[in-house]
Amino acid sequence: MTTDNKGEVILRVVPRITDINSNGHIFGGWVLSQMDVAGGIVAGRIAQGPVATVAIESMKFISPILLGDIISLYAYEERRGRTSVGIRVNVTATRGRSERKIDVTSGLFTFVALDDHHRPRPLPA
Ligand SMILES: CC(C)(COP(=O)(O)OP(=O)(O)OC[C@H]1O[C@@H](n2cnc3c(N)ncnc32)[C@H](O)[C@@H]1OP(=O)(O)O)[C@@H](O)C(=O)NCCC(=O)NCCS
Repeated sequence: MTTDNKGEVILRVVPRITDINSNGHIFGGWVLSQMDVAGGIVAGRIAQGPVATVAIESMKFISPILLGDIISLYAYEERRGRTSVGIRVNVTATRGRSERKIDVTSGLFTFVALDDHHRPRPLPA
C-alpha cells in the first residue's frame, strides 16, 4: 500500500531509543502523537486560532518504523465542515543512506476550532 504524499512536510523527526518497543519497532503511540502535532499545525492555520482533536479515523500502520529512520510527516486538508476540519496526515520513513521513502502510517485527524470558552467556533471563510 502506498500513501499519497500530498501537502507539505510539516515535521521531520528522528525517534529515539526510548521510543522502541520489544519488537525493535517504534511505538504506535509515538508516531500517533507526532501526527497529532503535525495535523494540529495545519488545522490551526486553517482555523486561524486554537483547535482541539475531536477524532482520529482510518488510522493505518503500514510498515514498521525502525531506529535510525528519519520520519517525515505530510499533512493537508481533506474535508471541511462548519467548525471542524479533517486533516490527512501521511508519514514516510527514510532509512539508511537511501533517499527512498517508505510509507509507514496514514490517518485522518478531525480538529475543531475553539472559541475562548473551549467551545466549537465556526471556521473562517
Ligand atoms: C472538541 C469539542 C469542543 C467539540 O464539542 P462538541 O460538543 O462535541 O461539538 P459539536 O457536537 O458541536 O461538534 C463540533 C464539530 O466536531 C465534529 N465532530 C464531533 N465529534 C466528531 C467525531 N467523533 N468525528 C468527527 N467529527 C466530529 C462535528 O461534526 C462538528 O463539526 P462541524 O461543525 O464541522 O459539522 C469537545 O468534544 C471537546 O472538548 N473534546 C475534547 C478535545 C480534546 O481534549 N482533545 C484532545 C487534546 S487536543
